[in-house]
Amino acid sequence: MRIIHADIVYSKDRENLAVHRGSFIAVENGKVKCIWTEIPEEYRDVPVTDHGSDVLIPAFSDLHVHAPQYPNRGFGMDMLLADWLEKFTFPMEARYADPEFAKLVYDAFVDNLLACGTMHACVYGTVHTEATSYLIERMDKKGIKGFVGKIGMDRNAREDLLEEPGKALRETEAFLEKYSGNKNTRPILTPRFAPSCTGELINGLGRLGKKYNTGMQTHLVESRWEAEQARLLFPECACDTEIYERAGLMDNGPVIGGHFIFPSEDDIRILKKYDCYAAHCPDATVSVIAGIMPAGALLDRGIRIGLGTDISAGHHTGVYTQAGRSVQLSKLKHFYEPDGNRAITFPEAFWMATKQSGQLFGGTGSLEPGSVFDAIVIRDMSDAAVKLTPEQTVERFCYAGTKEDIRERYMSSI
Ligand code: GUN
Ligand code: FE
Repeated sequence: MRIIHADIVYSKDRENLAVHRGSFIAVENGKVKCIWTEIPEEYRDVPVTDHGSDVLIPAFSDLHVHAPQYPNRGFGMDMLLADWLEKFTFPMEARYADPEFAKLVYDAFVDNLLACGTMHACVYGTVHTEATSYLIERMDKKGIKGFVGKIGMDRNAREDLLEEPGKALRETEAFLEKYSGNKNTRPILTPRFAPSCTGELINGLGRLGKKYNTGMQTHLVESRWEAEQARLLFPECACDTEIYERAGLMDNGPVIGGHFIFPSEDDIRILKKYDCYAAHCPDATVSVIAGIMPAGALLDRGIRIGLGTDISAGHHTGVYTQAGRSVQLSKLKHFYEPDGNRAITFPEAFWMATKQSGQLFGGTGSLEPGSVFDAIVIRDMSDAAVKLTPEQTVERFCYAGTKEDIRERYMSSI
């Protein structure tokens, strides 16, 4: 057992933060055992790490991030999705045919995730099996709980990123065989999005999902263009989400739909039916996608929402920044489209980035007793003239913090 002393903040529920000032948290076998205001007599001999007035919070979860796009962050942000994919993203992803290049980037990507306090993540690789295998091995070794997918795409992109569906399915199956037993980071099926996949590929992935009990991540109704393409290319489906439902991809494990900005009633019904997550990626939304998720309305309808950086459609690598940004965007959404929309609160945004999304990774994202103890310590961000409450420090960090404000990282897996 170990005991840590700090100001402690986590989400009590969707609307409220739990705040324990100057408290002691006891951790045993990687899980939170208790929070005390004073150490009970029988535990007086247990060593204590004291963080003073710094603030202990749960580590963050990034539900949508493209590791191979890490070298592109901040580029092409004046374009829209289809052009950005063609001019920036696909040329960069093609470079992962070179395993040495992949290794250099993926080492830096994984280090940066941890530096930003992100200990859980749903990560896209590329179509390249060798490079994506390196990525999942690296994340697993570093103790990151999460999922990595070898991307599936077999149409509408440059030749060197397209795989013939039979080959794509064989290599995906080998990837699942090899890594499904991983301790921390496991494989997930990853059809890129409807415009770049044939029915043959998506249906084949559905069969693999059933056989290996594996979930799926993809991009769902992310832009008007993408939603229209989905309807054109899959006319038998009433909406983008139905493409994956029909293929049997929705009920084999966790499902994370990136963006979910222009959902129809059918999209919402299907996402809810299978308890899927929508990954809200605010920076990506205001850059290459140019649409705003109706986050308040979807939360009120019971859709599970987590946050994502979507590197490199988004440019900030710390998902904590997206908590602040999601509040800002909900206000804009409400301002321009008041009917049926509302602004979300900071506690709701923090909950999405921690407790709500943490359920995907086996009970992370909280510090209440029983939670997996993946946590970070943020420095007390008070100004000389104005002392902050612990919850104000957390809010300031999510708007104006940097990774240098993180003083300590506690990871249950290592
Ligand atoms: N849709 C298809 N591929 C991508 C991608 O790489 N990033 C984003 N943001 N959207 C996509
Ligand atoms: Fe994306």
